[in-house]
Amino acid sequence: MSILITGGMGFIGVGLAHELVAKGQDVVLFDIVIRPERVADIKDNVKIIQGDLKVWPEVMNVVRDNKVEDIFHLGAMLSVPSEINPWGSFQTNVVGTMHMMEAARLFGVKKLIFPSSVASYGLDTGEVVTDVTLQRPVTIYGASKVYGELLGRFYRRRFDLDFRSLRYGGVIGPGVKTPGIAQFYPWMIENAALGKPFECFVTEDTANPVTYFKDAIRATLQLYDAPKKNIKTVCYNINEFSPSPTARELELTIRKFIPDAKVTYKPDPVVMAFHKNQTMKVVDDRRAREEWGWRPLFSKLEDMVADFINEVRTKPQYYGLA
Ligand SMILES: NC(=O)c1ccc[n+]([C@@H]2O[C@H](COP(=O)([O-])OP(=O)(O)OC[C@H]3O[C@@H](n4cnc5c(N)ncnc54)[C@H](O)[C@@H]3O)[C@@H](O)[C@H]2O)c1
Repeated sequence: MSILITGGMGFIGVGLAHELVAKGQDVVLFDIVIRPERVADIKDNVKIIQGDLKVWPEVMNVVRDNKVEDIFHLGAMLSVPSEINPWGSFQTNVVGTMHMMEAARLFGVKKLIFPSSVASYGLDTGEVVTDVTLQRPVTIYGASKVYGELLGRFYRRRFDLDFRSLRYGGVIGPGVKTPGIAQFYPWMIENAALGKPFECFVTEDTANPVTYFKDAIRATLQLYDAPKKNIKTVCYNINEFSPSPTARELELTIRKFIPDAKVTYKPDPVVMAFHKNQTMKVVDDRRAREEWGWRPLFSKLEDMVADFINEVRTKPQYYGLA
């Protein structure tokens, strides 16, 4: 029996693959783009299959041919690419997710884990979002995540698929290339660690919920491992920093480790116009804490920044930064 990771060549998929291989699991990575260098160190323990979530026979084949027991369905177009190509995003994130759920149903998959996003919230959230805050996203990406959460709940009720979901903040870590509103966090730390100047594209007081990649991977595995009887809320917020740190707070924290870090601010009007729709400052994750014992490893900004700088400096090649 194997574990399938869709989007398995992506930032989080690769991290998950390493953790699952370390636990002795047979792992299959399914992705539209193949980047074997990302799993070179575990190449003998993973099977890589190039395929497209939009093409239902390719999705059916990968599940049928590999005796897949559980699925981490990570394959998706992220927020900015979805904004640029909403039609492709619909096919990948909505139709592709339906394909995945159907394959799970038809071939007796037990568990399906689906990463959603704080982008599934949106208008009029107030400053605190809980697991019962109304989700009214303003983007097609956010709408596709709400659809995935609801479709999964349906498959759980109707077909007894053990569907579970968690909402990351903007995922940050070394080498993240996907542009997005939260990307000033990783780029500010990464550039400082590499001794390069960084022109920040948001104002000093801008803040966004973020999740350090190590905690995103850890939370995903913890949710996967939780006993079925504990899963009541089904779709969970997770959180590290409360409230989310501002750009200036991040800069000051970086300076504790790199006093001569060069950061300037030139807010991009397009990014800031987009950002002004967002009022959430605190992501309430008490249900994940109560139901499956979620606790972040990195709840202090300083600890995360120190770890991030260390990763950049000790493994630049691994993150494509050398
Ligand atoms: N990165 C974030 O800030 C963030 C935040 C919240 C939720 N998430 C979710 O986490 C998951 C993983 O994100 P990530 O950060 O690793 O992003 P990523 O872009 O690094 O990985 C996504 C992967 O999906 C693949 N993919 C895209 N279209 C596909 C298709 N049609 N068929 C097959 N594969 C396809 C891409 O090639 C890529 O490797 C996604 O579902 C994303 O929506 C990410």
